[in-house]
Amino acid sequence: MKHRILVVSSANIDFVQRMARLPRQGETVLENATCKYVAGGKGSNSVVTFARLGADAVFCAKVGKDENGARLKRLYGEEGIDTRFVFEDAASPTGLASILVEEEDGANRIIVYPGANSTLADENIEEAFTCYPDGVFVQLEIPEQAVLAAARFAREKEIPLFVDAGPVRPGFPLEEIGRAEILSPNETECEALTGIYPDSVENCLKAAIRLAGTVETKYVVLKLGSRGSFVYDGKYYHLVPAHKVQAVDTTAAGDVFTAALSYAYLQKGDILEAARFATYAAAISVTREGAVPSVPTLQQVKDFAAEIREGGK
Ligand code: ATP
Ligand code: RIB
Repeated sequence: MKHRILVVSSANIDFVQRMARLPRQGETVLENATCKYVAGGKGSNSVVTFARLGADAVFCAKVGKDENGARLKRLYGEEGIDTRFVFEDAASPTGLASILVEEEDGANRIIVYPGANSTLADENIEEAFTCYPDGVFVQLEIPEQAVLAAARFAREKEIPLFVDAGPVRPGFPLEEIGRAEILSPNETECEALTGIYPDSVENCLKAAIRLAGTVETKYVVLKLGSRGSFVYDGKYYHLVPAHKVQAVDTTAAGDVFTAALSYAYLQKGDILEAARFATYAAAISVTREGAVPSVPTLQQVKDFAAEIREGGK
């Protein structure tokens, strides 16, 4: 079945610089640096993931009335994404992220200028719900009130809600989300939301229990980088290890993971199978440069999974 997923989230253009090593304070790094402008933003990365995996993807976001906004809208259209609810704000520029990627392990540092993302309003979101989604996916890179409005509309209409708790938002009133199908933070988001860094199984469990006590959620799925993910269903937990790949750029791994997890869970209703599927999708994304350009298609995920099963990777 082709599910319709409404993604209520952010859209950015990423200015990405790759370098052998990051500069120290006061230092300028010149040698071996490359730069690119690519499509990104947590929402773009996730909605493109849904579309490439075969969902009927609808995007609710705000871009500026500028060349970057037009470029993003063109790209969403080419991906087959419904852009009726990608609104334009004439008074602010499209969101921009500055990303530094270190060659050695593909690790990144990101600064986001939210621009038009910060003007996403409740009425925009209410309008987007007229698409009659089967699932709603939110991230925290938009105003607090917008996240809570999406959660409220989903609750009122009894539509499953998937919450990717990124980026870190100190003081975010998570409890006001109320109810979710899956709540998924990464390590730093987990620490910001619970005060517990998930560096051991014991701490993962403590943090997951705390999160499940804050939001009425069926599943807590902690994203643990190259360690994999931790799935908690309110009673039992499972660790899903990551695949060993050559990490080129980890940007968007978390967005791809949570979108793929939500997609697969909606398809089959099996959280562990969904986490394994998401782990394949995220592993592919870390082997590729950039945010949106790193998102795999369904066929690529299937081929990668088959290779792993046959022992090729
Ligand atoms: P980002 O902010 O870089 O988009 P994130 O911090 O939100 O990502 P991570 O926990 O880093 O999320 O990654 C999500 C998933 O991607 C992990 O659970 C894991 O399955 C996969 N992953 C991340 N890094 C690696 C890696 N180096 N090798 C293999 N898989 C990885
Ligand atoms: O999660 C990766 C994303 O974070 C980047 O694409 C950047 O735009 C920031 O939103």
